[in-house]
Amino acid sequence: MERQGLLQQYKKEEENLINILHALQNNNPQNYLEKDDLKAVATHLNITYSHIYGVATYYTMFSLKPRGKYIIRLCNSPVCNMEKSPDIIDKIKNMLSIDIGEISKDKRFSIELSECLGQCDIAPSMMINEDVYGNLHKADLKSIFEQYK
Ligand code: FES
Repeated sequence: MERQGLLQQYKKEEENLINILHALQNNNPQNYLEKDDLKAVATHLNITYSHIYGVATYYTMFSLKPRGKYIIRLCNSPVCNMEKSPDIIDKIKNMLSIDIGEISKDKRFSIELSECLGQCDIAPSMMINEDVYGNLHKADLKSIFEQYK
């Protein structure tokens, strides 16, 4: 959907800021917020660009750099670490031939490290966009990734 059409779906109220940024980011095939998105939101909500920029850079869920269609968020907090998440992280980096913060060659995946995902009971865990995976084993990863075309 076009940027302006998307903005028109939201009332010009500051409380809509986070939802608007989410919608714009989700609407971008490369899963990020462009400078022109931030400018358009500033105009739409009549808020300064620097305020919008501050919000967009404060929350780790927003990115100002292009990302893959699917974002793999790997938990790097203590409970998952004790359950061997570093091995899982290394395996995923090898499988996709990318490092943390990079995009796979086919532009399907990006990898990000995350603080606790709130899924400690199924550690080690990760998210792929909104989907949660836990009790991860290296042998499961291939079939999980195959679901994301
Ligand atoms: S420590 Fe990994 S989900 Fe909580």
